Amino acid sequence: MNLLIVDDESSFRLHLKHVFERQGYSVAEAKSGFEAIEKAKQTLFDVILLDIILPDIDGLEVLKQLHLISPFAQVIMMTGNATVENAIASMKLGAYDYLVKPFDFEELSILVKRAQDLARLKREREAAEHEKSFRSRFEEFIGQSEHTRQVMQLVERVAPTNSTVLITGETGTGKELIARAIYRKSVRSDKPFIVINCSAMQDTLLESELFGYIKGAFTGAVKNKSGLIEVVNSGTLFLDEIGDVSPEFQTKLLRFLESGEYRPLGSTHTYKSDVRIIAATNRDLKQLMQQDQFREDLYYRLNVFNIHLLPLRERPEDIPILVDHFLSKSCFALKKCVKKCHPQAMKILQSYHWPGNVRELENVLERAVILSDGQEIKAEDLPADIKQTSFEMNKTTPLKLADLERQHILNILQKTGGNKTETARLLGISKKSLYHKPHKYGVM
Ligand SMILES: Nc1ncnc2c1ncn2[C@@H]1O[C@H](COP(=O)(O)OP(=O)(O)OP(=O)(O)O)[C@@H](O)[C@H]1O
Ligand SMILES: [Mg+2]
Repeated sequence: MNLLIVDDESSFRLHLKHVFERQGYSVAEAKSGFEAIEKAKQTLFDVILLDIILPDIDGLEVLKQLHLISPFAQVIMMTGNATVENAIASMKLGAYDYLVKPFDFEELSILVKRAQDLARLKREREAAEHEKSFRSRFEEFIGQSEHTRQVMQLVERVAPTNSTVLITGETGTGKELIARAIYRKSVRSDKPFIVINCSAMQDTLLESELFGYIKGAFTGAVKNKSGLIEVVNSGTLFLDEIGDVSPEFQTKLLRFLESGEYRPLGSTHTYKSDVRIIAATNRDLKQLMQQDQFREDLYYRLNVFNIHLLPLRERPEDIPILVDHFLSKSCFALKKCVKKCHPQAMKILQSYHWPGNVRELENVLERAVILSDGQEIKAEDLPADIKQTSFEMNKTTPLKLADLERQHILNILQKTGGNKTETARLLGISKKSLYHKPHKYGVM
């Protein structure tokens, strides 16, 4: 709760300061219009008490400026000599209220409290809007590779059905993003979407969270508790890391998937619920099945519809568009403006093997945006290990003849200080054929 008091009379300011500090406000003071404007640039105020007559600028002018600087702050105008014109002008300029001195401090306190509630509300609404637009802008699954196109087609096709979906792929390939995309495009999109991370929970906890329990089912179960399956009835449940659940839980899950029935822990009754299940794992379920760690029947039940996401290194065509996407995402979040990636940096990004997949790419770019001091991500903004690995990969992949030629020409040009006649002589070719070397060399 930040309050700013703007008045040239110091004893009056001091008095108000005491009153409001006692009520828990953090109070700042300004003795002139300019000082008020400077303070508003540094602190987010909820409420500003502003005298109309100030030694430097007119209070109404200050009011205009304050609205531009802190649109959420509510401004209460104060004046010693009331004129109707001033009151009307203040309200027209969007002041919260207008008080004539001397005023009752109790009345002022109530007014400030109400103004503060309004400021809070406005700020929260703005934050929610911002969050919403951020989400809708950046929750999309981005990519332009053939693989991504196919994945998006599968999403479109399976979303409107009620089918269980199993999403597989290495860590960071976007499994959760796909699960959310399926949910958004489904007929259940107005119902809840709940994520359960199966590997983070112990078995009984997972079971009781999902199916609920009755009083006395175990020590500590002092009353009945509904499970998520009941709570999200007709919603969507995303079971993340499904490869990590115990065989007992697998049995219960299978039963639910087959019949829609479940039994809360400790209960003798079975209940029914209509929940769509989307599951994901980065483990190889087939292999787990062969090792008897995953039930075969559950595997087939989940695998009715499988979406497999390829590792990023197997779809480098997605990298440029992902880079654009994450640059604008980071810039939006960090309030910076780094628009592009230098071709050399892009080359490094495209030749790295990305064990952490898209998540790792996103982190690398965010870091680069923080480090960058220009409009472009350069190779030096990338972490050393990424540059190193990419360099080593390049050493083992054979160079194209044209690349070698380009490099050689560039070297000689550098040696001769850009002298083309001398360069041609050293290369043993005519100056004319040097000029005929394609412009792609970017040196002529
Ligand atoms: N194709 C994509 N387009 C845009 N963002 C993506 C894409 N793929 C992944 N991301 C981003 O990468 C991060 C990791 O994605 P996500 O959490 O969906 O991965 P995951 O496969 O569930 O990983 P894990 O197995 O580790 O849980 C998220 O921030 C997500 O927004
Ligand atoms: Mg995940």
